[in-house]
Amino acid sequence: MKKKILVTRNLLPENEERIKKLFDVKLNKQEKVYTSEEILELSKDCDGILCIGGNKFDANIFSKISNTVKIIASYSVGYNNIDIDSATKKGIVVTNTPEVLTDATADIAILLLLGASRRAYEARKSAEEQKWVWATDFLLGKQMSGSNLGILGMGRIGRAIAERARGFGMKIHYHNRTKLSADLEQGAIYHDNIKSLFSNSDFLSINCPATKDTSKIINDETISYLPNGAVISNTARGDVVDDEAMIKALKNGKIFALGLDVYNGEPKIHPEYLKLQNLFLLPHLGSATLKTRIAMGNRSIDNLENFFQNKRPKDQLN
Ligand code: DGY
Repeated sequence: MKKKILVTRNLLPENEERIKKLFDVKLNKQEKVYTSEEILELSKDCDGILCIGGNKFDANIFSKISNTVKIIASYSVGYNNIDIDSATKKGIVVTNTPEVLTDATADIAILLLLGASRRAYEARKSAEEQKWVWATDFLLGKQMSGSNLGILGMGRIGRAIAERARGFGMKIHYHNRTKLSADLEQGAIYHDNIKSLFSNSDFLSINCPATKDTSKIINDETISYLPNGAVISNTARGDVVDDEAMIKALKNGKIFALGLDVYNGEPKIHPEYLKLQNLFLLPHLGSATLKTRIAMGNRSIDNLENFFQNKRPKDQLN
């Protein structure tokens, strides 16, 4: 008999076709993101759940989740929405989808750095108004070439951003829990602490996972380490930024411009951000290419398939 899987959001047709062949699926054909209560109710008779990053699985949910659920396969690389310790205590395997979204997310980080530093938001508005006059000092931005790019979190995505940024003539600095091998560093300069990294970052790309340790790691104090007029992009998670501190720094010019793809409490965005001009905002598009999204779907289905064939899923996190 086929195992029963709750799929919490709609999948692309290519993925839906495949998962239907392998499992007895409960699909979500609505636009809405299920609440945790709805997930609990719908998964009562399921063997596994294929979820997205927007679904929260905290200790409370794990205390109530059906004993039939043996695996949660997340369609995302980030898994800060899932309390892994509680899942482990409950005997539930958790998987994610690393690797397949590295390139797409690195592209978006470069788009954010360019969009912010070259004032793409103000530029688009000026173009639409059709009143602009070319002038030597019109909408001057910051140039990436010749600048230092600091990368906070030099995992796969951080390294893919470094590779692209080298093509823009940037010098790469990074901070990570551990120094990378020379092979992976590719000449990037390691800083064993944030103060040292930030004080060398004309541009800063945030790529660390959201954990208890990185919560609001971008705050009044760490922002003060940056050179005046730095440019920041965040393609990691909103939780790593103290929005109040960031907004203050954007208003007083400490930060020249900010590019964001992720937000605290998304899809909501801190209202003060929306009043600022020196922002380039995207609605969480890091992995949003057809090729990547199909690959993410396949990766999560592979994890489910392996698990129910009694093999360790490639991306098992616990
Ligand atoms: C992820 O996979 O964590 C992304 O943020 C989803 O696009």
